[in-house]
Amino acid sequence: MKLSMFASCAPGIEPWLEREICELEMGAVGSESFPANVVQDVGGVRFDGDQLTMAHALVGLGLAARLLIRIATFPVTELSKLDSYVGRLSWTGWLKRDAPRVIRASAKKSRLYHSGAIEQRVMQGITRRMKDSPPPVEADEIERAASLVVRMDHDICTISLDASGQPLHRRGYRLNPSLAPLREDLARAVLLASAWDRKRPLIDPLCGSGTLLIEAAMLASNWPPGIARSFGIEPTALADKVSIDAVKHDRMTRVQPMKAMIFGSDRDARAIAATKENLSGFDFPIQLAVAPLSAAELPQEPLSIVTNPPWGGRVSADQHLNPLYRSIGDLRRRAKDGSSLTLVTSRRELAYKTGVAMRSAFLTDAGGTKVNAFVENAKA
Ligand SMILES: C[S@@+](CC[C@H](N)C(=O)[O-])C[C@H]1O[C@@H](n2cnc3c(N)ncnc32)[C@H](O)[C@@H]1O
Repeated sequence: MKLSMFASCAPGIEPWLEREICELEMGAVGSESFPANVVQDVGGVRFDGDQLTMAHALVGLGLAARLLIRIATFPVTELSKLDSYVGRLSWTGWLKRDAPRVIRASAKKSRLYHSGAIEQRVMQGITRRMKDSPPPVEADEIERAASLVVRMDHDICTISLDASGQPLHRRGYRLNPSLAPLREDLARAVLLASAWDRKRPLIDPLCGSGTLLIEAAMLASNWPPGIARSFGIEPTALADKVSIDAVKHDRMTRVQPMKAMIFGSDRDARAIAATKENLSGFDFPIQLAVAPLSAAELPQEPLSIVTNPPWGGRVSADQHLNPLYRSIGDLRRRAKDGSSLTLVTSRRELAYKTGVAMRSAFLTDAGGTKVNAFVENAKA
């Protein structure tokens, strides 16, 4: 069954997601499947594949926010026609009869603009075609329902199945978020932007609850980001056509021992305790220490410093943060030649305070704040 998919992601990281999709190895389960027609779009990447490609994408992608499977696209300008169009589509390959389902609609520059009315008409069209009566879904049961996404854009209606369920960055390891954690997908994007080769030592001297360290260990060991979670396809008819468990097992057979040493430190003992808690489901050999930045220990070989310092945001906070960013630059200068610094911050002027020549690898949005990943300029 050919599926047309859209993996959405945080703005600015589409090029990294495109590469991640192109490099999604299929292994033994799914060796005949592969992502085809991979094309970057605004806010995500489109690609085609079959059910196994979809399952590998769900388990193996670390940069995607959601994975939508396109069911139908058609023009419609009258609400009265929407349910009859929907009723002409074949739904049994997508949905289970009498199983709970939820519909989320949005509209842009279209004559049909009332999202509640669109949702109701699409639901009517499906139940008429399926000849069923799915139970109403309570707010706390949404995860057990098949989720459809309806988008009206310039009078074109696109209906998709949300194969992800909870956003894909929720990998399930974050038991203790500590303060100001970086989202898992953004941490992974920052690591990819840093061009860390997954062999040289990596250090995060302001590690907080350890997101960059854990994502780095996942990259270095080929650990499948989605291994510990469930997905939105499970309550749908697509789940009958593919075994997510088989794909998870297959991807785990390709986990490798980490070649790189990974170090994390933070002056706050609670942050290190949170990192340990978040690491508890893994046996990654990450070395941790409670230490201020000025006392962070560096291995005597070229290394990658990748970190997410506090961003501040108020002038008073900036005055306090200027010395911190200068100290990050000092740490970089203490490191062996050939080392590199990558940091994520919302304030360009703070990145300048490091005194290290850097460029923005991407600009994205973290919970409503614009943030850049700054990477050190490679020496010519
Ligand atoms: C934005 S948080 C890092 C969040 C982390 N990336 C995560 O995902 O959890 C910044 C961290 O820097 C630490 N920090 C601030 N100043 C420090 C210093 N001078 N030395 C060591 N750690 C410091 C704070 O304790 C805090 O945990």
